[in-house]
Amino acid sequence: MAHLLSASCPLNISCSKTSPKSLKQSSSAFPTSLTLRTSIQPFKTLSLNKNNTKKLFSVRATTLQQPGTKPDSTSGQTSGEQPRPTRVMVIGGDGYCGWATSLHLSNKNYEVAIVDNLVRRHFDDQLGLDSLTPISSIHDRIRRWRSLTQKDINLYIGDVCDFEFLSEAFTSFKPDAVVHFGEQRSAPYSMIDRSRALYTQQNNVLGTLNVLFAIKEFSEDCHLVKLGTMGEYGTPNIDIEEGYITITHNGRTDTLPYPKQASSFYHLSKVHDSNNIAFTCKAWGIRATDLNQGVVYGVRTAETEMHEELYNRFDYDGIFGTALNRFCVQAAVGHPLTVYGKGGQTRGYLDIRDTVQCVELAISNPAKRGEFRVFNQFTEQFSVNQLASLVTKAGEKLGIEVQTISVPNPRVEAEEHYYNAKHMKLIELGLEPHLLSDSLLDSLLNFAVQFKDRVDTKQIMPSVSWRKIGAKPKTVSA
Ligand SMILES: NC(=O)c1ccc[n+]([C@@H]2O[C@H](COP(=O)([O-])OP(=O)(O)OC[C@H]3O[C@@H](n4cnc5c(N)ncnc54)[C@H](O)[C@@H]3O)[C@@H](O)[C@H]2O)c1
Repeated sequence: MAHLLSASCPLNISCSKTSPKSLKQSSSAFPTSLTLRTSIQPFKTLSLNKNNTKKLFSVRATTLQQPGTKPDSTSGQTSGEQPRPTRVMVIGGDGYCGWATSLHLSNKNYEVAIVDNLVRRHFDDQLGLDSLTPISSIHDRIRRWRSLTQKDINLYIGDVCDFEFLSEAFTSFKPDAVVHFGEQRSAPYSMIDRSRALYTQQNNVLGTLNVLFAIKEFSEDCHLVKLGTMGEYGTPNIDIEEGYITITHNGRTDTLPYPKQASSFYHLSKVHDSNNIAFTCKAWGIRATDLNQGVVYGVRTAETEMHEELYNRFDYDGIFGTALNRFCVQAAVGHPLTVYGKGGQTRGYLDIRDTVQCVELAISNPAKRGEFRVFNQFTEQFSVNQLASLVTKAGEKLGIEVQTISVPNPRVEAEEHYYNAKHMKLIELGLEPHLLSDSLLDSLLNFAVQFKDRVDTKQIMPSVSWRKIGAKPKTVSA
């Protein structure tokens, strides 16, 4: 299954019976220019109609592997009660976190299989967006990796919502651990209109349910490492614990799941995922780790730096770009930093080099059978105003004059609030954080400057309003 949202360019999608319709938004803060059509049957199999050839988007268990170059699958073993898993399936391995993680694990001699339906690239085509960095096709990426390291990465192109496809991937690869990044991960995307809200929850919740059923059916000892988000917790006026909180109520005490207050249809999909995973750990004895990740910044890892064909994607637009990455690009092109509202919104952040480290720590220290383990995966917390001032200072050092503006907040969120989230469990497992020092910011900013000619400044302002979401397919900025 895949979502069917066709753009007027450049892909023709079958089954779409609607005619192009310009949808004008009332506020000039949310400019419009790309017309999108939405299928009346949004969750049928997506097929691409290119040169009159119908191509099924899900390719069953397509594998890229070179005979005779199998990685040494024993070199990742450690002594101790539980053998270290060596076969890791990375769902969403063509995406921002997934690509960096796949290379990192492959470099550490895990045998890696990427499962991805490439829908993230399709979103860019739909919405007229592009990564700041030029990114190669997944096939070229994997070929380049092999030629540089003699290490293979298996590739399964397909949709985890398609259980038949997923079953084939599971039975042929036989993973010891599954890292699940493969979701629609943009809160603004999920708030564009009804069809994107439905797509996000269908893709994320049903995809994860399929992964849980595949583990139960084919690989019941397999450890699920699932990417959640710190956004599941919202911004409560008390400290945020790592997954659970001990409460005494009317004289009785219990340890319960920490309350969730998600604030977009995307964040809510993650809460639903967490509930489904926790239930299957109890009911079927699944072993799972929910990584409640903060906002990721940065683009370079030791492996992606090795060759330009291994470059990771870098999103800076108002839909997929995350705060610090966006600010660096804005500074690089002389656009004022876009602080939403009062700018007191505080969140946890981490360097992408720590994302890959955290995932490896979770895999190499697996949860027990039946355990639903929750780690808060971030290293530092900042308010949006603090980030803006850090980028301004880094800009000064590079001779860039950086200005900041407050733009009307497109989201519904507290703009000034208490925030203190615990994040000790990964440190206890050995995480050595890369902190957002001035030098790191300089290099992130330098990177944005290096690619600034590729920036489409029309993509910078936010184009999706939480309050204006409607049932009709919406045109968004492009
Ligand atoms: N990037 C962040 O700052 C951040 C922060 C917190 C949590 N996360 C979580 O980490 C995960 C990865 O985020 P990212 O930034 O790398 O996102 P991304 O969009 O760059 O990557 C997601 C990948 O999953 C693939 N995918 C989506 N649906 C799929 C499906 N049904 N079947 C197969 N493949 C599918 C996409 O094609 C894409 O390659 C997400 O689950 C996200 O919610 C990310």
